[in-house]
Amino acid sequence: MRVVITGGAGFLGSHLCDALLERGDGVVCVDDLSTGRLANLEHLRDHPGFVFLERDVSRGLDVAGRVDAVAHLASPASPPDYLRRPLETLAVGSRGTEHALALARRHGARFLLASTSEVYGSPAVHPQPEEYWGNVNPIGPRSVYDEAKRFSEALASAHARTLGTSTGIVRIFNTYGPRMSARDGRVVTNFITQALNGEPLTVYGGGAQTRSFCYVDDLVRGLLAMLDCAEPGPVNLGNPEERTMLELAELVLRATGSRSPVLHRTLPQDDPPRRRPVITRAGQTLGWSPEIGLEEGIRRTVAWFVARPEELRGAALTALDR
Ligand SMILES: NC(=O)c1ccc[n+]([C@@H]2O[C@H](COP(=O)([O-])OP(=O)(O)OC[C@H]3O[C@@H](n4cnc5c(N)ncnc54)[C@H](O)[C@@H]3O)[C@@H](O)[C@H]2O)c1
Repeated sequence: MRVVITGGAGFLGSHLCDALLERGDGVVCVDDLSTGRLANLEHLRDHPGFVFLERDVSRGLDVAGRVDAVAHLASPASPPDYLRRPLETLAVGSRGTEHALALARRHGARFLLASTSEVYGSPAVHPQPEEYWGNVNPIGPRSVYDEAKRFSEALASAHARTLGTSTGIVRIFNTYGPRMSARDGRVVTNFITQALNGEPLTVYGGGAQTRSFCYVDDLVRGLLAMLDCAEPGPVNLGNPEERTMLELAELVLRATGSRSPVLHRTLPQDDPPRRRPVITRAGQTLGWSPEIGLEEGIRRTVAWFVARPEELRGAALTALDR
């Protein structure tokens, strides 16, 4: 199979590149490097099955040669990234998705959409099954991401209904692991870099809000399963093990051996209080469930950061800027 991955230089995309190449597939990675980086792909540079194209998919997407599947992951994903790039986020979720879908249609290829748990907004239903339509503020600062993804889902569904494109929507819940950017402002990286740099761990609000965290290898197995079948979705992919922010902070302090204190800050606007996927559908349709627990995943992620002091220095400098 030859797979086009938009956003393939990012955190999840680069792991998906690895997984596909490992099983013998070809990969065309298309990325504008706006939030991703070539360092994530450095080890693939001379791989015969790998091609990298530096392109903004909001402007168009054409790929020479055979295309069997298009995995559309291009989009800023962390709140600091999409709040810094609001118009680009809307563009890639709308025009970018349109171009990626058109490419899949031209080649009769499978289309995979990396959607998000953010489509549930601040959920009035807990935990969140795929049938829940969400509770999203359409005009708040975070709407640039949430609504772009909801629009992407609508577009993919309309393509499938009217043009017969084989589309598969996955709603990804918080995923973490090696290659996350130390500066992306996501809670796992914030805590790990703060703990390793001896800085206080910033907890927004009282810290009782919960998230569920999925290790990247588990998530990538789910993406492969969705690429390999004809299931339209949406399918939630995430780890249903729910933890409070304070629990996560304690776990990171233990994993790093750090003595950093916890510092409470004001909760950002529209920050959802709880998030946990119902993953029954993923089990039934993809035979998928997560296998790596939070303690083990955090241990692996900490080990990756410890081996990259330059990442930690970068995170410390970003913290000074704030
Ligand atoms: N990581 C998570 O926990 C999570 C959760 C839910 C959904 N997702 C989704 O998964 C996808 C990947 O997320 P990630 O965590 O790897 O983020 P990331 O920022 O590391 O990767 C996104 C990639 O897309 C690229 N990109 C952005 N706009 C582009 C454009 N216009 N043209 C070409 N490339 C562009 C970036 O340069 C980057 O390499 C995103 O679509 C995100 O919404 C991720």
